[in-house]
Amino acid sequence: MNPLEGRSVALGVSGSIACYKAVDLASKLVQLGARVDVMMTEAAMEFVAPLTFAAVTHRPVVESLFDPKSEISIDHVAIAERADAVVIAPATAQTIAKLALGLADDPIGATVLATAAPVIVCPAMDAHMYDNPATQMNVETLASRGFVIAGPAEGRLASGLMGKGRLIETAEMVGHLRLALGRRGSLAGRKVVVSAGGTKEDIDPVRFIGNRSTGKMGYAVAEAAIDLGAETVIVAAPNALQPPVGARVEAVRSALEMRDAVLAESSDADAVVMAAAVADWRPRERSASKLKKGGRSSFSLDLERTPDIIAEVERRGLVKVGFAAESDDVLANARKKIAPKGLDLIAANDVTAPGSGFGSDTNRVTLIDRGGNVEELGVMTKYEVGRRILDRVASLLGCPAARRDAQPPAR
Ligand code: C5P
Repeated sequence: MNPLEGRSVALGVSGSIACYKAVDLASKLVQLGARVDVMMTEAAMEFVAPLTFAAVTHRPVVESLFDPKSEISIDHVAIAERADAVVIAPATAQTIAKLALGLADDPIGATVLATAAPVIVCPAMDAHMYDNPATQMNVETLASRGFVIAGPAEGRLASGLMGKGRLIETAEMVGHLRLALGRRGSLAGRKVVVSAGGTKEDIDPVRFIGNRSTGKMGYAVAEAAIDLGAETVIVAAPNALQPPVGARVEAVRSALEMRDAVLAESSDADAVVMAAAVADWRPRERSASKLKKGGRSSFSLDLERTPDIIAEVERRGLVKVGFAAESDDVLANARKKIAPKGLDLIAANDVTAPGSGFGSDTNRVTLIDRGGNVEELGVMTKYEVGRRILDRVASLLGCPAARRDAQPPAR
């Protein structure tokens, strides 16, 4: 279920001090199961030895178009044709200029010209070089041709100055790659709205009613939605997680804010997955100033019900998925929620069971559909749970299976 497993990635490395970070990227991609073909410019080889990449990828590194060790000298488009995606990281001003011109005098240029796969360009250079109109024009040219321009980030540059020109972090490069590879997934062209995290219901400016949800389950569903090619919106209650590259985050705090955002986003969505832990009760009144103890020995809050958000989402050709986090009679309690909430599918889990629940990276979920059919999933990562749920969503929507092995479309 790893989106990079068995995929071919062509990694073009050009000459910047950020080359050492490309080693980390290559290593990460290999760990995720990708086959990585590294192509280096002469300048890149001044910074990092090809042997470093060869050791990390367990494959020969392409050093020139006429390199007798490389298949590129026999078939100059071999890597271009095999690649599911091409990543240029770091991409220097020089390499970007050459790509904009369509030059093919090195393995990176030739591969980019010949490939039909998505190309992700990760610039890295001095801020002035990046801001220069020549570079800006070249970047725009590449973007207009459908290349993904990922970065650069702002921060400390090799010169010691602060500015825009840093290569983006490995995790972000992997995120862009997953976004590109997912484009032909089973949910391509579909919109998925995922709610995540626990809502906070304010009592006064310092106190709130909250719950133990971390948002991990919802974010894992969003990651899976990106990998399947969906336009993905996370309606996120406060949390500390990094959203997947490509997801749009609508930040909310309370159940009422979450309702407004979910209803607005669901109007043109194909599926809504409510993974958020929504407060059932909210203080009837929120104090504008901090409440004082005032010598009282007890205190009671007047609470009112929050709206049932998923119940308010109209079905109209849209698939509705809920979660039931239970501690007792898990399946029976989950089943009872399907009809009143108008769900197509509910993911029931015992939050007290080992390998389940809040903060954990794994979950043990049972899926129950409207017809009462039960599918018990063993303990698996929350990401895998997300994939399983979205596979069911795709089949309920009548989506064709992913075209992972089909001929890639032109950019
Ligand atoms: O809290 P409950 O067990 O009813 O939650 C079941 C499902 O309903 C979950 O998917 C949850 O996100 C959703 N829910 C909601 N609005 C609420 C409470 C729960 O949409 N006010």
